[in-house]
Amino acid sequence: MKPSPISARPEDAFAKDVRAGLTAQPKSLPPKYFYDTLGSQLFEAICALPEYYLTRSETEILQRHAPEIVAHFPDPLSLVELGSGSAVKTRYLLDALLAKQKSLLYQPIDISESILRQSARQLSLDYPQLLVRGQVGDYTKGLGQIERQHNEALLVLFLGSNIGNYNPDEARQLLTALRQSLRPGDALLLGADLKKSAEVLTAAYDDALGVTAAFNLNLLNRINREFEADFDLKHFAHRAHYNADDGRVEMHLVSQKAQRVFLRRLNLSINFDAGETIHTENSWKFDLAQLQMLATETGFAVRQTWFDQAAFFSCNLWQVASS
Ligand code: AVJ
Repeated sequence: MKPSPISARPEDAFAKDVRAGLTAQPKSLPPKYFYDTLGSQLFEAICALPEYYLTRSETEILQRHAPEIVAHFPDPLSLVELGSGSAVKTRYLLDALLAKQKSLLYQPIDISESILRQSARQLSLDYPQLLVRGQVGDYTKGLGQIERQHNEALLVLFLGSNIGNYNPDEARQLLTALRQSLRPGDALLLGADLKKSAEVLTAAYDDALGVTAAFNLNLLNRINREFEADFDLKHFAHRAHYNADDGRVEMHLVSQKAQRVFLRRLNLSINFDAGETIHTENSWKFDLAQLQMLATETGFAVRQTWFDQAAFFSCNLWQVASS
């Protein structure tokens, strides 16, 4: 067997990010590592929670407007999806497209191999006219591998407010890179969660059932398993709050006492003060002026925006601007 280059092994990227994040001041960990097999399942459970309105709002938009969205394009069209997950919402767009064209190439990209395999298999069974080409990995890697079958236009789906995990600079970089892998006639459908009351936002990330707490704490389970670490989950607590100044919900894991944790495989010892936190996620919230500016700055033109009835969430159709 050919040895793979060390830098290409995803577990080494995780090791590097964990070491950097836990030795930094303040401590942080990147949210993309939430999605091991159990983490992906917990996220699916979050999407069904009464407090987590994002999935329901976006589903409402796609259910109602998918035919109108795809009517913007001549057929045939191919779909690419960044962070496809279970791809349940995508089905509204597949239905609308397959009512206009005989076959469809769908290229989902997701960080979780388990959920990608499962959704690709289920979609292929349910849609015989669909050609599914999945890629495991993060978005930047996936963008270079996008294919076209017959020179058709591409619609890139970036749903669920996944864009909200990126700080403004990173979001601009990612969307600029995306723009550069597209050409005139292509477009992006961006799902973006909107600013609203702190009560509604905080509840969405601190549900009464404790599923989001489990999702957050599971990151420590994953680190225990993959690095033979000894985080005691009883002594860390989930915290979520809306930081209105920055326009983002923050999630943290709060150390409940002064304690030391050892990560054997990294030969790394980490001290926590009582009350010290690991910042595990930002979920940025947007207003329409910010979305308009983000589009312009990254080489897109806003074509149309759709909302749910409560106007909690937005789906934004951005066209590649002529350069
Ligand atoms: C998948 C990144 C959009 O930020 O709302 C849900 C992840 N975190 N509950 C979000 C998440 C806690 C979710 N995104």
